[in-house]
Amino acid sequence: MNTVLVTGGTGFIGSHTCLCLLEMGFYILIIDSNVNSSKKVLNKIKKLSKIPKEDDNRVDFLKCDIRNEDLLNRIFKKKLEENKKITSVIHFAALKSVSESDQFPLKYWDTNVSGTISLLKVMTANDCHTLIFSSSATIYGYSKDGFLKESTPISPINTYGKTKSTIEQILNELFHSQPNLWRIANLRYFNPIGAHPSGFIGEDPFGMPNNIFPLIIKVASREIDYLKIFGNDYDTKDGTGVRDYIHVMDVSEGHMVALDFLTKNEPQIIQVNLGTGKGTSVLELISIFEKVNNLKIPYKFVEKRKGDVAKCVADNSLAQKLLKWSPKKTIEEMCQDGWKWKEKRF
Ligand code: UFG
Repeated sequence: MNTVLVTGGTGFIGSHTCLCLLEMGFYILIIDSNVNSSKKVLNKIKKLSKIPKEDDNRVDFLKCDIRNEDLLNRIFKKKLEENKKITSVIHFAALKSVSESDQFPLKYWDTNVSGTISLLKVMTANDCHTLIFSSSATIYGYSKDGFLKESTPISPINTYGKTKSTIEQILNELFHSQPNLWRIANLRYFNPIGAHPSGFIGEDPFGMPNNIFPLIIKVASREIDYLKIFGNDYDTKDGTGVRDYIHVMDVSEGHMVALDFLTKNEPQIIQVNLGTGKGTSVLELISIFEKVNNLKIPYKFVEKRKGDVAKCVADNSLAQKLLKWSPKKTIEEMCQDGWKWKEKRF
């Protein structure tokens, strides 16, 4: 039996993707350093996937930092000995705060880029050449109209984005060094939000979040008094920033189809946007959240945030054409499911 290794598998998108993998019948091994996530999610994933007790061995967890090449190597060898060879990797493990990345660049280059290099070395040494990489729309930086195709020039404006685009570059060079060997998908996520519709798993960052959706949740649960909206004079429909919010389950589903595509086709490297193609402003997001959850989200306009773009929306036609993937969930469902996850923890 083959195993899918999921790095960063206890994190937000990682945990939802692991659930999808289990539901599809895969054997998975999750590794995570747990610097920004908790192992507790494992039992929830097992429960949600309804795998019978005797199939418990389909999911395995090991605490591991991807920069630890020795440990990674031992993990690959151990799985081979157990007759559960790791044949593909879904690589989420990374630090992901844009503001922190500009404050502590070395930490970000080390974890994200050195960590990925160590993972790639170990994959190579252990004859594993199928990889799905968690990339990000942030690699596009400023663009003319905020509508982004995969061919839009890559010009990240923060350290986090630079680490992601550098990894894409490394993966492209690696692929072209042996074009008959590697199967690689760089999936460029737009703004994943929401939670599993059961409300049992969701986004659970340590400390104060920077992203809008977990902050709206904190205002809704009265942990903070109001939301600060960064700027109201952008060149957008209502002056607030426009983003392409996508349900985390649709993003996870994107990994399932990408894995299927890679394994069924010739070695190749693809870069694909995962977004809905629809833009929602900050004010619209607040208003939808309020409506579907029957809540009030107080807010105040403040200065623009450094490095924010007015609009960032995906052209997702490549994902539709190549992977036959299209997002199914509405922004209303994203708001409902995200709040359900919080309510379950009250
Ligand atoms: N915003 C606010 N107030 C806040 C936080 C955000 O008004 O307190 C606004 C921002 O100005 C922006 C929108 O909400 O217009 C979304 O901001 P987020 O911080 O939630 O998301 P970003 O689009 O800035 O960045 C996110 C991730 C990146 C990822 C990128 C991909 O943080 O890691 O999406 O598009 F790369």
